[in-house]
Amino acid sequence: MKEEGKRELSDQPPNTTTDAGIPVPSDEHSLTTGPAGPVLLQDAYLIEKLAHFVRERVPDRVYHVKGGGAFGYFEVTADVTQWTKAAFLNQVGKRTPMLARISSVAGEEGYPDTDRDVRGFALKFYTEEGNYDMVGNNTPVFFVRDPMKFPDFIHSQERMPDSGLRSNNMQWDFWTLSPESAHQVTVLMSDRGTPRTWRNMNGYSSDTYMWENAAGEKFWVKYHFKTEQGIENMTDAEARAMRAEDLDYHRRDLREAIARNDHPSWRLEMQIMPYEDAADYRFNPFDITKVWPHEDYPTIPIGRMVLDRNPENFFAQIVQAGFDVANFVPGIGPSPDRMVLGRMFAYGDSQRYRTGPNYAQLPVNRPFNEVHNYNKDGPMRYDHTGNRPVYAPNSYGGPKADPQRYRDPSWFVEAAEIMRTAYVAHKDDNDFIQPGTLYRQVMSPTDRDHLVGNIVWHLSQGVERFIQERAINDYWSKVDPDLGTRVAHDLGLVASVR
Ligand code: HEM
Repeated sequence: MKEEGKRELSDQPPNTTTDAGIPVPSDEHSLTTGPAGPVLLQDAYLIEKLAHFVRERVPDRVYHVKGGGAFGYFEVTADVTQWTKAAFLNQVGKRTPMLARISSVAGEEGYPDTDRDVRGFALKFYTEEGNYDMVGNNTPVFFVRDPMKFPDFIHSQERMPDSGLRSNNMQWDFWTLSPESAHQVTVLMSDRGTPRTWRNMNGYSSDTYMWENAAGEKFWVKYHFKTEQGIENMTDAEARAMRAEDLDYHRRDLREAIARNDHPSWRLEMQIMPYEDAADYRFNPFDITKVWPHEDYPTIPIGRMVLDRNPENFFAQIVQAGFDVANFVPGIGPSPDRMVLGRMFAYGDSQRYRTGPNYAQLPVNRPFNEVHNYNKDGPMRYDHTGNRPVYAPNSYGGPKADPQRYRDPSWFVEAAEIMRTAYVAHKDDNDFIQPGTLYRQVMSPTDRDHLVGNIVWHLSQGVERFIQERAINDYWSKVDPDLGTRVAHDLGLVASVR
C-alpha cells in the first residue's frame, strides 16, 4: 500500500498537455524571442496555465470554511420500518455509501483547528432514492431558534468591520442579548467546545425532522451519532497550545487514522417522538435551543457509520462537496422547526452561488441513481437530455411525476393569521432551565470548574465591563446562581440577579 502523503514513483510519466489534450514541449520555459528576449503572447500554454491558476478558487462556504472529510458507509443495525419507509433504512444489514465533512464554524481556511468552536457534522448518504443530506453539528442544540437571527449570529462570531479582528466583545454582546443562546453557549464553553479530535466527538442533527412509515404514520425525530472512539476533549490550555504546534491538527488526525486503517465509526441512535406528543410536550419539540431529555425519549440504536476512505483530491471531493438540508428522501422530511425551514432555502442557494446551478453534476455531489427532470442548460452543464422533451407535460415519453406514488411530507397547521411572532411557549419552556440542568446534574465537579475557567478567560479578552456584568447577572446567574457567583468572583465583580 502507498504510504500516506507519499506519491508513487513512475518511470514513464505521460507527456504534459494543454487542457485540450495537445502535447506541450516544456514545463519549465516560457516561449521567448531568444534567451534574453520578451515572452510571447503566442505562448498559448503559458496563457492557459496562468489564466487557469487565477481561477483556482471557488467562493468559500459563508461559514464552516475550514474542514475535512472522508468517504465511508452507513449500515442499518435495527429494523426501523415501523417509523420510516426510507429505502436505505429498510433492511437490517443494508449498507449505503456516504460522505462526511467535518468542520469548524467561524474561522477561515487557514484557521487553527483546535480553537473553541462548534464543529459541523455534514453527511451525504448516496441512497437508491437520491441523496439524503443530514447537516448537523457536534452539539445537540443551537444558538438561535429563528432563521431571521442566523446571519446576525454569524456576523457576531466573525471579524469586526473596521479592524478585521475577531472580537469576544461582539460575541458576548450578541449572546447576552439573545438568552436563547444560553444552552448552546454552556456547551461551547465546556470542554466539548475543544474536542480532542473529530473522531472523539458526537454528531447531532440538533434540528427535529420527520419520519414517515409506509402506512403514512408520522414521527418527530432527532439524530445522535455517538462516537465509538469515546468522547475526548482538550482543556482550554491544550487547545491553545496546539494552535502553535499544528494548525491542521484535526484534519491531519482524521486523514492519518483512515490511512492506517483505524477507521472511525459512529453509532446512530434516534430519539423518536410520536406525532401527537408534540402538541403538549413540556418543551416545544421544534425549538432547536432545547434537547428532549432522554428520560422522556430514550435514544434507540439503529445503525452505524464508518469512515474508511480518504479523498483522493481535497478540492474536488471536500471543497466542492455541496450539502443541502432540503435533500430529503421519501420517508424523511422537515418539521415545523423554523431553522430547518430556513435552512432548506439557504444551502442549495449557497451551492448555486459557489459552484453554479449544475453543482449536483459534480462527481462528489451526483446521486448514484439516475436523475430525470426538465432542468436544462446553465454554466458547466455536463448531463443533457439529448433530443428528449424539455417541457412537461409532453407526448414524447419524458419523465412524469406520480402523485399516487410519492407525496410531500406534511403536517397539520391550525388556521391562524399570518404574523411575525415567537413560538408558543410550552409548559417548561424557559431559556435557562436546560443549561441549568446541564450544569447541576450532568457536569462533574471538574467539568464545572473547567466551564467557569473557560468562561472567565473568554470574558476577559477585550469584553467591556457592562457586557461582563450583563453576562453575569442576566445570563450565567440565571443558568445557575452558583455559576454566576463563581464567574463574577473570578472576574473581580459581584453577581446580583436582576
Ligand atoms: C437558519 C439557520 C441556518 C442557515 C441559514 C444556515 C446556512 C448555511 C449555509 C449557507 C452554509 C454554507 C453551505 C455551503 O456553501 O456549502 C452552511 C453550512 C453549514 N451549516 Fe448551516 N445554517 C443554519 C443553521 C445551521 C444549523 C442549526 C446547523 C447544525 C445543526 C448548521 C450546520 C452547518 C454545517 C455543518 C455546515 C457545513 C456544511 C459542509 O460541511 O459543507 N447550520 N449553513
